[in-house]
Amino acid sequence: MNVIHLSAECYPVAKVGGLGDVVGALPKYLCKAGVNASVVLPYYNRKFVQENSFDLEFKSSINVGKQVFDYQILKESKGQLGFDLFLIYIPRLLDRPEIYSYPDEIEQFIAFQICFLDWIVKSGNKPDIIHCHDHHTGLVPFLILHAYPFKSLANIATVCTIHNAEYQGCLGWDKIDLLPEFDRSKSDLLNWDTCINSLATSIKCSKKFTTVSPSYLEELSQKSSGLERLFKEQKQKGLGIINGIDTEVWDPEQDHLIYKNYSIETLIEGKEQNKKQLCEGFGLEPQKPLFIFIGRLVTEKGADLLAETINTSLETLKDQLNILVLGSGNPITEKELSKIKSKHSKHYGLHIGYNEELAHQMYAGADFLLMPSRVEPCGLNQLYALRYGTIPIVHKTGGLKDTVIDIENKEGYGLSFETLSIENIVHSIERAISLFANREKLVKTRKKMMALNFSWDKSSKEYIKLYENLLSG
Ligand code: GLC
Repeated sequence: MNVIHLSAECYPVAKVGGLGDVVGALPKYLCKAGVNASVVLPYYNRKFVQENSFDLEFKSSINVGKQVFDYQILKESKGQLGFDLFLIYIPRLLDRPEIYSYPDEIEQFIAFQICFLDWIVKSGNKPDIIHCHDHHTGLVPFLILHAYPFKSLANIATVCTIHNAEYQGCLGWDKIDLLPEFDRSKSDLLNWDTCINSLATSIKCSKKFTTVSPSYLEELSQKSSGLERLFKEQKQKGLGIINGIDTEVWDPEQDHLIYKNYSIETLIEGKEQNKKQLCEGFGLEPQKPLFIFIGRLVTEKGADLLAETINTSLETLKDQLNILVLGSGNPITEKELSKIKSKHSKHYGLHIGYNEELAHQMYAGADFLLMPSRVEPCGLNQLYALRYGTIPIVHKTGGLKDTVIDIENKEGYGLSFETLSIENIVHSIERAISLFANREKLVKTRKKMMALNFSWDKSSKEYIKLYENLLSG
């Protein structure tokens, strides 16, 4: 079975968030299970691309509106990612360092999608399934069915996975001429609330859509920034599959980015040493419980509540804890978080930015991970934390609800709260401090978490089942 994944991100080539992690791992595990999975990405002028070699696979040109673009398909030479990686290179349009946020982003992603389909048609290498991720690739299922140049692809099954329905890729109807000629009687499929909505189009036109957790699928019919009715209408086409993690990259026993490797057996000593090292780096006190937050500093992740939560905890629970934050995002949040440093330098650390190495060291060295997300389609950080014996504290929403069971329950291993508020986060921090004081329970909980299996080995099987169903039906 040949499956092509089409995405804007893929770790380690280009990653902004969880989408990159998923597209960098799922295809690898599909290949291990015998599926011929590959990934197609835009060409980004970034470290991985500069430092690795690529072979020219194909070249041609496309029209985007009135403009003609030459393009090349480049294939990573060594197959080092565990799957074939193809990059679409368009000089001056797709050869820039950043992944998002250029003023001509709409043209960039339309050209990316057209090039992909043009290549498939002209090369004759048709996959069995095209798997699109998020809105950047959302027009592909429509173009396959209704754009005249791609008619020969109409029988290829398409799947789209929604990693985050907050971002929908809306374009004004004035952009319509950028698309290739298509059957205008189908224009309605592009439309949602008077604009061309790429995510809505992919939900309408793909054979099946998936969300990255079952609870998120349920929630989308109630709350999805304007798409509620669509999710209700299309419910029978939806399937929630929980993400996995790449247990080769996220493995405390082998992780070369952390100070001291450890397993379930050597957990106590291993964590202690990683924690000591991490705390020293930030001037924190290693004998106290260490809480961390890792992620984009945006309201979706509850980052706007962090500064007040941290101030309240450090003031009311006086010196009983350390908090360390890694992330970047909203400038106001960044500023608020920076201000805390002068008041609480011994118990608070902050690193503004994206830092993969530090993230690994934090999972290894911390005691608790805070995830006060408002919206969390799946969440991977809690899964990384579980693997490293770091106890997640989560708002019960989306994938967090599906993966973290509160220690109040017999089979539980994390801390969770129903309603998102500063009060409830601080209360959970208090519960965590009590747990930290109960060494026996703490170690038992950590061991239980580390033994859980959230690997892609398991979740990739569900995608295979879905692909098989599509091909047989
Ligand atoms: C997005 C979501 C996150 C999910 C990730 C991978 O970043 O916000 O919850 O885990 O995609 O699917």
